[in-house]
Amino acid sequence: MNYNIALLKGDGIGPEIVDSAVRVLEKIGKKYGHVFNFTPYLIGGCAIDATGEPLPKETVEGCLASDSVLLGAVGGPKWDTLPGNMRPEKALLGIRAAMELFTNLRPAKLYPALKGDCPLREDIVANGFDIMIVRELTGGIYFGERGMREGKYGEEAYDTECYSRMEIERICKVAYETAQKRNKRLISIDKANVLDSSRLWRKIVHEMEEQYPDVIVADMLVDNAAMQLVRNPAQFDVIVTTNMFGDILSDEASQITGSIGMLPSASLGNTTRGLYEPIHGSAPDIAGKNIANPIATILSAAMMLLYSFNLKAESEAIVNAVDKVLEAGYRTADLAHGEPSLSTTEITDKIIENL
Ligand code: IPM
Ligand code: MN
Repeated sequence: MNYNIALLKGDGIGPEIVDSAVRVLEKIGKKYGHVFNFTPYLIGGCAIDATGEPLPKETVEGCLASDSVLLGAVGGPKWDTLPGNMRPEKALLGIRAAMELFTNLRPAKLYPALKGDCPLREDIVANGFDIMIVRELTGGIYFGERGMREGKYGEEAYDTECYSRMEIERICKVAYETAQKRNKRLISIDKANVLDSSRLWRKIVHEMEEQYPDVIVADMLVDNAAMQLVRNPAQFDVIVTTNMFGDILSDEASQITGSIGMLPSASLGNTTRGLYEPIHGSAPDIAGKNIANPIATILSAAMMLLYSFNLKAESEAIVNAVDKVLEAGYRTADLAHGEPSLSTTEITDKIIENL
């Protein structure tokens, strides 16, 4: 088959890690007889520099015309002082909205080879953990009404958390179905002891419960969830939560896997076209040094093969190659604890050799 993939390399380490994933996909193409056509588009700071805006129209059109999108990372100190709607991060929110990607899947699992990198006590992770975070991605406080105004104490700024029934139902449907395909345990995370939006969220989660009798669903308050993730991560199978809670909890979950450089993500809507990106940022401090960990992006490409193209064997081949490379003890600097490590391109070569 022929697949057209839009590449949004972005800023910082973005270009290096996307190049790694492209090389891995090219090897997969050769081995399994697929043709992947890659078309690069500008996004984030590099787009601001070249065109004056973080998300040029051609980028949006290119992504919407593609079969799927692979993204590196956006942002950096150079653009940090720009107003909110001109920041590189705005482009990321813009492309998620333009592609209507309301679901963000963020798997966090402990690789046996990386057990020693997990900052949690050995007895806590003795049995490992394997969590799928289903984060709502196009609603909530990220997209709610916002602004500046004169308030009781003078100048003030506000952002609003707002969720409609439709938005809650569609993300919960994905979460329930995801749980059905896994260990059938779903934990919905909210702040229903304080927020009205969370109370509606919780109500709808339970209204839908009877449609999925094989799934055991429970609620958890977000503050407790932040604690439970480090107290007993194995209790979680599928988590469903709002845009902002999912943002925060997925960073926490990534850290207990050993490195944020390991976590891929898939952003999906109602079509097979998705946007795949590592959950980490652009890491400007290490950009251009060929030392970034490309595994999260390579695993994001594996998620693309599975979720967008339904290429199960090809996707598994990548995941297995990453496993083998880690089992063999190869590490990038983020996981090497000061020991000698492989560069971005070297670890990519190792993964390709194992395909
Ligand atoms: C993420 C990032 C983004 C988010 C930022 C860069 C807008 O932190 O993908 O987790 O908050 O969604
Ligand atoms: Mn984040």
